Order: sequence, then C-alpha cells, then structure tokens
Amino acid sequence: LTSAVEVSPVAGRIGAVVSGVRLGGDLPDETVAEIRAALLAHKVIFFRGQDHLDGEGQTAFARRLGPLTTAHPTVPGLDGDGRILDLDYTGGAGGAEHWHTDVTFVDAPPAASVLRAVTIPPHGGDTSWANTAAAYESLPAELRDLADRLWALHSNRFDYIVAAHPQSEEGRRRAEVFSSVTYETEHPVVRVHPETGERTLLLGGFARSLLGFSPQQSATLIKLFQEHVTRLENTVRWTWAEGDVAVWDNRATQHRVVNDFGDQPRRLQRVTVVGDVPVSVDG
Ligand code: SIN
Repeated sequence: LTSAVEVSPVAGRIGAVVSGVRLGGDLPDETVAEIRAALLAHKVIFFRGQDHLDGEGQTAFARRLGPLTTAHPTVPGLDGDGRILDLDYTGGAGGAEHWHTDVTFVDAPPAASVLRAVTIPPHGGDTSWANTAAAYESLPAELRDLADRLWALHSNRFDYIVAAHPQSEEGRRRAEVFSSVTYETEHPVVRVHPETGERTLLLGGFARSLLGFSPQQSATLIKLFQEHVTRLENTVRWTWAEGDVAVWDNRATQHRVVNDFGDQPRRLQRVTVVGDVPVSVDG
C-alpha cells in the first residue's frame, strides 16, 4: 500500500509542507510515524486546510505525539482540561515577536508544539522558525567547542513580554500573568537531541545569562550565537491561512512572530507535548 502522505520541503534547511493528511486523534499509527519522521527531519512541518479541526481535535492529534503539558506554567488553559494556550495577539504580538524556544525556563521544556491558526489577518503576522541543529553545525569549529562547554540561566522573569507591552493595559495584564510565578533553570547551551542525536543550540528569549561570565560578556556571547541561529539561511517563514496547523520540534528550533499586523485580529491556539531535561554533550 502506498502512503497518501507527501512531504515537500519549503526552504533549504528547515520546514516542509505535509499533505494528504486529515489531522485528528484517529490517524493510523503508520501516518503518525510518517508525521514524526517528517518532524524530526524538517524541524517544523505545516498542514494546510485543516478547517475541520477544533481545539478538541487539535488536542487529540497532539496526544498522538506524546503526553501533553498543561497549557503553560503560568497562563491558564482555555479548555476544561487546561491544555490549550490561547494566543490572541490582536493588537500586537507580545513576547512572541522575539526569537524564542517555548518554555525553556522550566527543567524539561516541551518536546513539540502544535499551533492552529484560528483567526489570521488578511496580510502580515507570519511566523518564522530557525533550525538550531543546522545553526550549530554551521558554526566555526572553535565556536562549536566553546558552545559545547557553556551553560545558560533561563527565566521567565523580566521577560520580553514586559518590554514588548510597556504602554498597553492589556499588555501589562498579560505580562503580569506570564511572570506571576518566577521560574528559573540552567540548561547546557548545546543539547544532544534525544531522538536524532544531533547537537542543537539551546538559547532564545528566555536565556538571561551565561554561567561564569560578566553581564556584558554573557550578553555579547548570547548575541553572537543568536545572530548565527537566526541567519536567514537557517530559517523558514510561514504565511498563515486559517485552518493551517504547524508542528515544531521545540528541541531543535526557535521561532518568532512578525509583528507587522497592526490592530488586525490574530489568534492561534497551541498545545505542547511533554519533553525531557536537556542533556549536554558530556551526558
Ligand atoms: C508561539 O510563540 O508559540 C506562537 C507563535 C505564533 O503565534 O505564531
């Protein structure tokens, strides 16, 4: 039997469209296996035209990839079960306009995120992803060696959300909820991917500082690595249509929203799959 699933890369180093799949909790095991393989290979995969999917169907599909986290450590979920994070960015992209890997301020950040486009502006509001495995691989050897030895402090405190919304009441409210409980943890800057064995750079918006450096040194080094991760060659940019679903490997990517949609409504909903504690190159 030949599979109906087709995987078509959309950029050189990251991203593929997966077609021939109607997402839901009832997918055959073989289809789920094909989706997983595409996710590991391409880091972010896109499904168009999944208009039949509601929050429940999205959650049921995501459960096929693994157990789900709660919606967010501090932000309550939308659904009764508390799994769906409502990302209503109408009026501004909030913290999501900065490059980040989801929820790295906890010991075991999510393995994968499943994002469904509910309301999309007529133009603007794209999302970009960067491949942190390709980024690591394309660093000069000396910088790879340095990165291998570094550890970073990640925290949701003084988060970028606060900086992004200094003036709006809604922004202040969101920022307060987001950092209502402070989370802090340390991760290796290079983690070994538990499934592919690839080395990936683990930094992004929640990485506050590098251990053992002055604030200036640490800011300079983080900037150096972040600029490399987010080079256009390591990225893909997706223009959403309502009903699109993106799934990304949160262990091998960073992402950000392009905040160019002004006051137009933009709303997506996310569920996340439980991940493990990042392991450094030393095990
Ligand atoms: C996110 O940061 O998980 C949301 C990205 C988006 O709204 O496009």
